[in-house]
Amino acid sequence: MVYITRRETFAAAHRLFNPELTDEENYKLYGKCSNPNWHGHNYTLEVVVAGKPDPSTGFVMDIKQLKEIIRKNVIEKVDHKNLNIDTDFMIGILPSAENIAIAIWRQLEDKIPSGKLYSVKLYETENNYFEYKGE
Ligand code: NI
Repeated sequence: MVYITRRETFAAAHRLFNPELTDEENYKLYGKCSNPNWHGHNYTLEVVVAGKPDPSTGFVMDIKQLKEIIRKNVIEKVDHKNLNIDTDFMIGILPSAENIAIAIWRQLEDKIPSGKLYSVKLYETENNYFEYKGE
C-alpha cells in the first residue's frame, strides 16, 4: 500500500461555544476559542489517500487531481471564512478541530477517484493536530 499526502493551508475564523452555557462558562471550557467576537487560526490540512499504484500510470491517484478536489470541496469553502456562519458543511456543527476534521472527511470521502481516503489531519496550531481516519 502506498500513502500519498496533499497539504493545504487556510485561514478561518470561528467561535467555540455551547449555547446552553453562559459566556463565562464557555470561557472556562474553551478559553480564548470562545471569544464572543470570533478569532482566527491558520490551519494546515493534510489529506492522505492510500492505494496501490496503477500499473499503467504509476499513480495511486493523480496528486494534481487530489489538490483540485480538496481546493474545490474544502479550501474554497473555508479559506477567509467564518466556520460558524459561512461554511455550508459546518452549519450546526461546533467548529472544534476534531469536528472540522470529521466534516472535511465527509466532504472528500466519496470524491476520491482511485485509492481510498485514509486520513484527514488538521493542524490548528503548530503543536496541536487532530486526525480522523473514518468511523
Ligand atoms: Ni480557536
